[in-house]
Amino acid sequence: MKADDFTHTPVLTEEVLDGLDLRPAGLYIDATFGRGGHSMAILKRLNDKGRLLVFDKDPVSIRLAENLAATDSRVQAVHASFSEIDKHAAEYDSLHLVDGILFDLGVSSPQLDDGSRGFSFMRDGELDMRMNPNTGISAAEWVNSEKQDEIVRVLKEYGEERFARRIARKIVETRVEQKITHTKQLAELITQAVPGREKDKHPATRSFQAIRIFINSELEDLREALAKVDTVLAIGGRLAVISFHSLEDRIVKRYMREMAAGDSFPPDLPVTFDQLNPKMKLVGKAIKAGRSEVERNPRARSAVLRIAEKLAA
Ligand SMILES: C[S@@+](CC[C@H](N)C(=O)[O-])C[C@H]1O[C@@H](n2cnc3c(N)ncnc32)[C@H](O)[C@@H]1O
Repeated sequence: MKADDFTHTPVLTEEVLDGLDLRPAGLYIDATFGRGGHSMAILKRLNDKGRLLVFDKDPVSIRLAENLAATDSRVQAVHASFSEIDKHAAEYDSLHLVDGILFDLGVSSPQLDDGSRGFSFMRDGELDMRMNPNTGISAAEWVNSEKQDEIVRVLKEYGEERFARRIARKIVETRVEQKITHTKQLAELITQAVPGREKDKHPATRSFQAIRIFINSELEDLREALAKVDTVLAIGGRLAVISFHSLEDRIVKRYMREMAAGDSFPPDLPVTFDQLNPKMKLVGKAIKAGRSEVERNPRARSAVLRIAEKLAA
């Protein structure tokens, strides 16, 4: 199977389009192109004056985005982390002009389904897990060289793994005997280290999530990108973020709340709403997929969409 043959079903598409409040001639950013499901839905609503700037770290995704850009002059593809959103928006003269930004966080189905990307404990492959395999260190390099205490920290912090100590000890004991090179090999030794079984959850689920988040600096990239959104959005522009686990959603929720709360004053100081100088307003509550979408696409089960709108500076 070729990399391009894997598919990804976008989640909460209608909700994203409504949340972005799309204007046909608007300028939009899809910060996580993936297989372009959301981008295609956005493009359908744009007229020939509309523009869409798309980002992805993944070389396979961005190749597909470049193919799309070659046939649709409204599209521009950027192979970069969305943590550099401001730099690339500036290159396209788009600072303070963007009408909506979508972040659909985490990994795509093709990244998980293609065993050769080394993300999945369900499919054997070389342990890699990098969204961009051309930069940074692979998961294999990391598990074979990292200090035991740091492995414990990563598994706890990014996987909320109760048995982090046992798993880290097992990794360190195993690698003395033989290198850990493959996803199933790592999954197997985690299974051996974890006592008991959780219903409907592979024992390696949390550890794989933790290592993936760490290897790809997912939370740091998200924090960095959110801190730059204000310089990219136009007044009235919308931010839509889909998170898939509580660590991401906590960051997004806190960011949007802080932007909506405005400047902080001593609690006893009488200030008006305008003096608070809020930067954004929340649009509706967090949105989750309905039952029929979850039945069609189980990935949608953990998706949470939050929307905010930039207010006048
Ligand atoms: C859930 S998928 C997006 C799927 C997409 N919305 C679709 O409909 O096909 C997430 C994508 O974001 C990319 N990604 C994750 N973190 C990124 C980052 N910091 N910068 C750029 N792309 C990132 C991944 O490589 C992956 O392709």
